[in-house]
Amino acid sequence: MPTTDSGLDKTLSALRITTAEQVAARFGELREQFDAAALRARDESLWKPLRDEWLGRKSGIFSLITDNWLKQSGAALKPTVGQELNGLRKYVEGRLEELQREAEAQTEGSKLVRDRVDLSLPGVIRPIGSHHLIRQVFEEIENIFFSIGFSVVQGPEIETPYYNFEALNIPEHHPVRDDMDTFYLELPKAVPGPLLLRTHTSPVQIHTMEKRQPPVRVIVPGKVYRRDNPDATHSFMFHQIEGLAVDADITFCDFTGTIDYFVKQFFGEGVKTRFRPSYFPFTEPSVEFDASCVFCGGSGTAKAGGTCGKCKGAGWIELFGAGMVDPAVYGFVNYDPAKVSGFAFGIGIDRLAMLKYGIDDIQVFFQNDVRFLRQFP
Ligand code: FA5
Repeated sequence: MPTTDSGLDKTLSALRITTAEQVAARFGELREQFDAAALRARDESLWKPLRDEWLGRKSGIFSLITDNWLKQSGAALKPTVGQELNGLRKYVEGRLEELQREAEAQTEGSKLVRDRVDLSLPGVIRPIGSHHLIRQVFEEIENIFFSIGFSVVQGPEIETPYYNFEALNIPEHHPVRDDMDTFYLELPKAVPGPLLLRTHTSPVQIHTMEKRQPPVRVIVPGKVYRRDNPDATHSFMFHQIEGLAVDADITFCDFTGTIDYFVKQFFGEGVKTRFRPSYFPFTEPSVEFDASCVFCGGSGTAKAGGTCGKCKGAGWIELFGAGMVDPAVYGFVNYDPAKVSGFAFGIGIDRLAMLKYGIDDIQVFFQNDVRFLRQFP
């Protein structure tokens, strides 16, 4: 509303308004002008300028009316101008408040519309993961041993040399340590050391026997670490399951029978087992268990003809090391070697999984390529 058109920049006498009726009529026109503008000011972007135009302190319409009409009018008209001014101001303020509420409601409404959740839309389909093959094989093996009375125990991955070596009858300068010279931790001065990442799950044999009296029948699934260079059959971190059974009268027959049962459950009834002499400082006698080759059925000849590539014609595949617990070990855990006997084994899970599932490179277990992982849902 241009100020000059409405005469707001002039005094009433300059506008030739001299009677109360003329004053009332002029205020009536202003009210109509306000109503027309208010009709257009339904959203926040128009309501605020309208409020400033009318109520603004410096050059708002009411300031101009006060300065140019009210203050400049003579004593006869002043009461009428004052009354009309107050009436119009009250009306304008009331309407502006209503407009403000409407504008805010409209903004809130459009926000609700924008944020509305459409429950009929299809949801986000997230791919369902699965257990890693190594975990699946762990579970397979655990279930086989559960079925014959073993339970699971776990031990620390960070070990002292005492548990990793000495208590397993591997004294400080024993040549076996060369293979297992492994990852030692750099420790703050205050922490007594040395400490190392365990190279096998066998230390948990000691932890278990320290805590429990016979009979003991446990398996120990877990990660182990060795300073081995990575290749198709070696990794510097891999997985083992240790087994330990100690009781009053466990014989070598119980031992081989248990292993044979496990291998047949794991690879199938048709698989045969055999053992060969071996050496571990913590078992006596020590053996290496072999299974008849699951690929050529133990014949040494590939199904397509020629030598079986998996067992290289031998008909047997090396599985894992084991043996009867060396009586010297009982000395470290205060068991009486005259009263107890038992057996232990240590299975390399990664290589066992490779054998069973025909995987020819151990590294694929750790590369996390979903194309590989998806083959074992
Ligand atoms: C041991 O670790 C003994 N503690 C096993 C044992 C337990 C013997 C109880 C007697 C009684 P060995 O070093 O052979 O043994 O390792 C056991 C298995 O771990 C091997 O048969 C092999 O399958 C696996 N293994 C060894 N080194 C690696 C490696 N770098 N990467 C992947 N698998 C490995």
